[in-house]
Amino acid sequence: MKFFIDTANLNQIKEAHDLGILDGVTTNPTLMAKEGIKGQEAVNNHYKTICEIVGNGDVSAEVTVVDFKTIIEQGKKLAALHKNIVVKVPMIPDGVKAIKYFTDNGIRTNCTLIFSAGQAMLAAKAGAAYVSPFIGRIDDSGWDGIELIQQIAHIFSIQEINSQILAASIRNSLHIIKCAEAGANVCTCPLDAILGLTKHPLTDIGLAKFTEDAKKFQ
Ligand code: G3P
Repeated sequence: MKFFIDTANLNQIKEAHDLGILDGVTTNPTLMAKEGIKGQEAVNNHYKTICEIVGNGDVSAEVTVVDFKTIIEQGKKLAALHKNIVVKVPMIPDGVKAIKYFTDNGIRTNCTLIFSAGQAMLAAKAGAAYVSPFIGRIDDSGWDGIELIQQIAHIFSIQEINSQILAASIRNSLHIIKCAEAGANVCTCPLDAILGLTKHPLTDIGLAKFTEDAKKFQ
C-alpha cells in the first residue's frame, strides 16, 4: 500500500518525505485554505512547491468548480503545472463526464467524495486513476468506512478494474492498518496518523533498557 499525506502544509509534507516513506500528496480546497494561500498564482506556486518536495510521487490538485466546461478549463491548467499533478474531480455527473474527457486526453484524475461502491464503479468506468472513498466521514455518520473499502476492493478485483483505491479521510493509525487489510492501494493520511504507526509502549520500554545497558560497555 502506498502512503500519501493529506495536507497542503509544506512542513508536514517535508517531514513525511524526510521519513523516507512518502509516495504522494492529496490536497483539497479546505486544506489549501487552511494554509492561508490567496489567489490563483499563489495556489499554482504552492502546488509546484509540493511537487518539488515529493519528487516522483503523485500530487492531487482539486478543481473548485462544478460544471463540465469549467472543470475541464481548470483541470487542464492544474495538470499543466507539473507532470505529477493528478486532477481531483468531485463525484457528480459533470465530474464523471470530465473524468472521461481527461482520461481520453491523457490527464490522470482522482475522483473525490466517494461514499458508495456505485460511485467508485462509475468513476473507475470513466477512467479515474484513483477513486477516493472518505473513510472517516463514513464512520462519523455511523456507517463503516472500512467495509466500503473491502467492498470496492472486492468488486475491482473480480471485475479486473485498474483504478487505484485511495482511502481518504483517515482519522487515526488503526484506519491505516485496516485500509491495508481491506485492500486499499493507497492511504492518504494526516501526519499524526502516520507517526502513530511508529509508537508502541514496549518499544519505548525496550529502548530505555537497551540505552541503559549500552552504557555498560561504552
Ligand atoms: O482530502 C480528502 C479527505 O481526506 C478529507 O478528510 O478529514 O476532511 O474528512 P476529512
